[in-house]
Amino acid sequence: MGSHDIAIIAGDGIGPEVTHEAFRVVDAAAELFGFQLNKTAYPFGSQHFLDTGEIWPDAAFEEVKGMDALFLGAIGDPRIEVGKIEYGIIAKARFDLDLYLNVRPIKLYDERLCPLKGKTVEDIDMVVIRENTEGAYTGTFGFAHKGQALEVASQTMVWTRAGVERAVRHAFEVARTRARKHVTLIDKANALRSQDLWTRVFAEVAAEYPDVATGHDYVDAACMRLVNTPEDYDVAVTTNLFGDIVTDLGAMLQGGMGIAASANLNPGKVSLFEPIHGSFPQAAGSQTASPIAAILAGALMLDYVGEKEAAAAIEGTVIDLFRSGELKGVEVGDHATAEAGDLVLGALRRRVQG
Ligand code: IPM
Ligand code: MG
Repeated sequence: MGSHDIAIIAGDGIGPEVTHEAFRVVDAAAELFGFQLNKTAYPFGSQHFLDTGEIWPDAAFEEVKGMDALFLGAIGDPRIEVGKIEYGIIAKARFDLDLYLNVRPIKLYDERLCPLKGKTVEDIDMVVIRENTEGAYTGTFGFAHKGQALEVASQTMVWTRAGVERAVRHAFEVARTRARKHVTLIDKANALRSQDLWTRVFAEVAAEYPDVATGHDYVDAACMRLVNTPEDYDVAVTTNLFGDIVTDLGAMLQGGMGIAASANLNPGKVSLFEPIHGSFPQAAGSQTASPIAAILAGALMLDYVGEKEAAAAIEGTVIDLFRSGELKGVEVGDHATAEAGDLVLGALRRRVQG
């Protein structure tokens, strides 16, 4: 029987509620498909920081390095200085575990979830590969003459050839596994001339994948195209910042932040799985947030650790529930958090056990 070591940081706000539902489903999948999860839950997050002054101690971080996957509920709390917990937990994991790929599927499960007119489930089915350790997120920023009238603030986007290449190459590898086999590079090389590096690396890698077709959009045009003709996209690869932005847009196309899930990968090493949504602190403890994105992040995690059948069963269950209307949606008021978890759990059991 397969066995996987999983770290869990449920985190802030609605994080614990949605994580709880995600693991009810993931645990049921383990039982149904016959594998074992050795889970270690960590209390890190804003409340823990306020109580103890501790964000993510080295000893715990080292433990996580030895595991197969890390599940993160949500991070962010208005009581704490902007960026402190984000950098202490999410960015720390991404940088210090070298999670260089942020893989964000944008897949419409049912037509009625899409805010665009006339788009079908065939039209919205893409994966964005967001480079996850470089660009505007490298933390190379500073201020001069702080507080003075002549204050200067700067933040530098940094790309390495190796960093760009590994993201681009992954996009081509993903494209190869998909029916359309098409990769679009999304950049802003017309204004950010250093992005010529992306242009060149993309062309070099593309030459190694003659079976994969390519396209290119500047990020502003990509925003237009995502809304106008999302069917143009299959796999897209882009920078950290542009990927952050276009995947929120993409999340809305697939039905909202309550659906979108992502994988932060260092293939072969411990990797992180999370819903894209934030901590929604106003709703904490109210059982109003949808756990679907967290449940789908759980499915991405199972797929990564090799439990592909279980992952596909969870995703298939969610798709069926949306299409039958049993899952009304992921907005506040559609279902209580645990009720949506119950629906998925029940349907998953019926699907696997008959
Ligand atoms: C995301 C989030 C993070 C990001 C924030 C919380 C720092 O928006 O995962 O998309 O910008 O990467
Ligand atoms: Mg984001």
